[in-house]
Amino acid sequence: MNFELTEEQLAVRDAARDFAQNELKPGVIERDSTMAYPTEQIKMMGELGFMGMMVSPEYGGGGMDTVSYALAMEEISKIDNSCSVTMSVNNSLVCWGLETFGTEDQKQKYLTKLATGEWIGAFCLSEPEAGSDATSQRTTAIDMGDHYLLNGTKNWITNGAKSKVHLVIAQTDTEKGHRGINAFIVETSWDGVAIGAKEDKLGIRSSDTHTIMYNDVKVPKENRIGEDGFGFKFAMKVLTGGRIGIAAQALGIAAGAYELAVAYSHDRTAFGKPINQHQAIAFKLADMATDIDAARMMVHRAAWMKDNHMDYTMAAAMAKVFASDAAMKHTVEAVQVHGGYGFVKEYHVERLMRDAKITQIYEGTSEIQRVVISREILKKGNLYAPILGSSKMTV
Ligand code: CAA
Repeated sequence: MNFELTEEQLAVRDAARDFAQNELKPGVIERDSTMAYPTEQIKMMGELGFMGMMVSPEYGGGGMDTVSYALAMEEISKIDNSCSVTMSVNNSLVCWGLETFGTEDQKQKYLTKLATGEWIGAFCLSEPEAGSDATSQRTTAIDMGDHYLLNGTKNWITNGAKSKVHLVIAQTDTEKGHRGINAFIVETSWDGVAIGAKEDKLGIRSSDTHTIMYNDVKVPKENRIGEDGFGFKFAMKVLTGGRIGIAAQALGIAAGAYELAVAYSHDRTAFGKPINQHQAIAFKLADMATDIDAARMMVHRAAWMKDNHMDYTMAAAMAKVFASDAAMKHTVEAVQVHGGYGFVKEYHVERLMRDAKITQIYEGTSEIQRVVISREILKKGNLYAPILGSSKMTV
């Protein structure tokens, strides 16, 4: 067993940390306040290789492992979660989905632009009445012979307006249930794609979240991903990997709040000594450090299992549920450590507390992660740990 990171992984972590501290931190409070999309910052992230980290170099990506991606996500999420969710959707859902399941033509046409950050992608599964219950798709794509005709509405779509490409999940045959669902690559410039107003959110406020309407959009046959009826499994497989990215985001939020709390606790004195010399504060820091360490190990294990072609379904769900609960709990505590200063924007922790909440909701709520974990336990009889007795999984 080896818990050490490689030289390359450490270099990626340090580069992401420097970028987040130097380029993202200066304007993050203003962007959160005004909901301004981080256009320049996302452009820089593309140039630095953060938008297609795991994509093979032949398609313009960084060819890195999932552990490196999780390390970069953690560092960027310590500072700006609007940037990290944009990065996460583009990397884990869109690029990974296209590289793993797309045709060579689809990869040449779309992945090469998405991997470099020249284009941004969105993943369109959730609907007004299909969130956790993802098989209840109302969006339809009717086979018209030489194309599909797409109609429906998708909700809470990250990168909805800024993206050039949507991966859209739609029902092609209502009689077949989840086996009658397909996934399509839709260009946002096509006739019939309408974008709703940007959502005014509790957290990740400058990220680009919209309702999308598809009205008689003609989708070429060659833009379907995989075999007919593969769309639901495509969504599940893509989300399983995506959950590692969101778990890393939640870890970054918790770790960012913890770093701020530790620094503040040295500077602030009360009753004649730094507040971290009072057990009430020191124990909070100890609990934060312990949960963050556990979350980090779970995130890295899930990423490592994915890189080693093991079945990481349970490990990814466990990492997400644990890290997102830790992020919520410890950002609240970090605000408490800061006292009145924690309640004002200048000290950053209140923003991290607001950002934490979404990690318990998107890419599968904490309740859905528990559904996934309990099903895996009962299906496999694996009562020990995700890694012991794990089967191989090619994708
Ligand atoms: N990998 C591969 N296949 C899978 C799978 C997985 N992880 N999970 C399920 N499947 C397959 C099943 O094997 C089954 O196929 P067969 O019938 O051929 O055996 C099929 O999919 C249906 O599975 P279930 O019967 O288990 O389906 P279900 O209706 O009970 O739902 C669920 C399962 C886990 C609850 C699923 O609906 C789910 O994950 N829901 C949450 C959806 C979600 O995460 N939404 C997030 C929105 S995207 C987002 O947030 C992005 C963003 O912008 C940030």
